[in-house]
This record gives sequence, structure tokens and C-alpha cells, in this order.
Amino acid sequence: VKTNSFTGRDSLILVAIVVIAWVGGFALSRSRTPASPVRVDAGDWLVAVTSTDERARMLQRQLRGFDVTMWEVGHRFTAVHEALARANYDLAVYQWDKIGVGIKNALIRRPGKTAHAQQYLLGQTFDSVRTGLTAKDPALAWQAFARAKVGCESCHGAEGVAYVNAQSLFELGPPEAAPAASH
Ligand code: HEC
Repeated sequence: VKTNSFTGRDSLILVAIVVIAWVGGFALSRSRTPASPVRVDAGDWLVAVTSTDERARMLQRQLRGFDVTMWEVGHRFTAVHEALARANYDLAVYQWDKIGVGIKNALIRRPGKTAHAQQYLLGQTFDSVRTGLTAKDPALAWQAFARAKVGCESCHGAEGVAYVNAQSLFELGPPEAAPAASH
């Protein structure tokens, strides 16, 4: 009588159990490993987005439209004023050129504003202001500054944001003692 004896069938079952356990354990350990080995840092808010379209959309939103450029342009325009007050014409031209670059880049993001930008500032006005600043003559430079200001203000009017003009930035002009203001 066979009692408690280890048969060939028993050992087969044992081997099967061991193999199943081993394969199962291996599969489990693999499933815990992320599919992609890319490590995402907590600061990688953009890299962490897997869809390239969505990532580009998020980047677009962060680059903003026209407002941040206008903020920059406003700052640079004040810097043009300060440069002229110090007769630093090279700096005035530098700032004016950066204003041009900034607006051109903003138009790539907001092409609908191209016609007005061209009409009031980037076309003839831009070159004539630049010529006035590079002349290094106080009277011509302040006239150029005034022309630029009209260009900015006109575009704001055309774009339906005339309220932008009602701030001290657009009241800047030649200092009282400047040649342009005297006879
Ligand atoms: C395309 C025509 C256009 C031209 C040219 C233009 N602007 Fe603007 N500007 C706008 C528009 C449109 C806004 C409002 C932007 C918005 O609503 O996002 C604006 C807003 C501004 C603001 C407010 C920005 C803010 O968010 O605080 C300032 C400052 C400004 N412009 C300065 C200037 C100056 C200075 C110039 C000239 C050197 C100028 N702009 C030329 C269209 C123009």
C-alpha cells in the first residue's frame, strides 16, 4: 500500500508550482517598473506632458500674446526717453531697435495686428524715428520721440485699447531746458 510516498506525479506538480510562482513573481516585478525609463523631475511641468501637441499648446500659453511684449515695449520706450534726456543716442537707438524686434516677434503670435502695426509704427514711422535718433541732434531726436509716441497711441486707438494711452508713459517729452522745447 502506498501511503505518504512521494510519487513522480507529485514531483511534477511541485515543479509546476515552483515554475508558476517564479514566472508570476518575475511578471509582477516587471509590471512595477515604469514602461519609460525617463525620469521626470517635479519641475518638468512641460517635459512631463507626453502629447507633443498639448506640450506645444502649453508653451504657447506661457509665451503669451501681445500684452507682455507691450509691457516690455513700454519699459523700453521709457528707456528711450531717459537715454535722450542724457544725450545717450546710441542707447536710444538700441532701445528703439529692440522695440522693433519685440513687436515683430509679437506679430508672429498675433498676426491679426500686423496691418495696424505696419501702418502706425513698423513702416515709415520706424525708419524716420530711427533716423532722428541716429542724427545725435537733440531737437531732431525729441521730434523723433514725439513721432514714435503718436505711432504707439494711434495703434492703440485702432486696436480698440485707447485707454492704454492714458498713463504717464505717454506724457513723457523733452525736459523743459531741452533745445526742442526752447527757441
Ligand atoms: C499693433 C499696434 C500697436 C502698436 C504699434 C503699439 N501697441 Fe501697445 N498695445 C497694443 C495692444 C493691442 C495692446 C493691448 C494688449 C492686450 O490687450 O493684450 C497694447 C498695450 C500696451 C501697453 C499696456 C501693456 C500692459 O499689459 O501693461 C503698453 C504700455 C503699450 N502698449 C505701449 C506701447 C508703446 C510704448 C508703443 C510704441 C513704441 C506701442 N505700445 C505700440 C497695440 C499696439
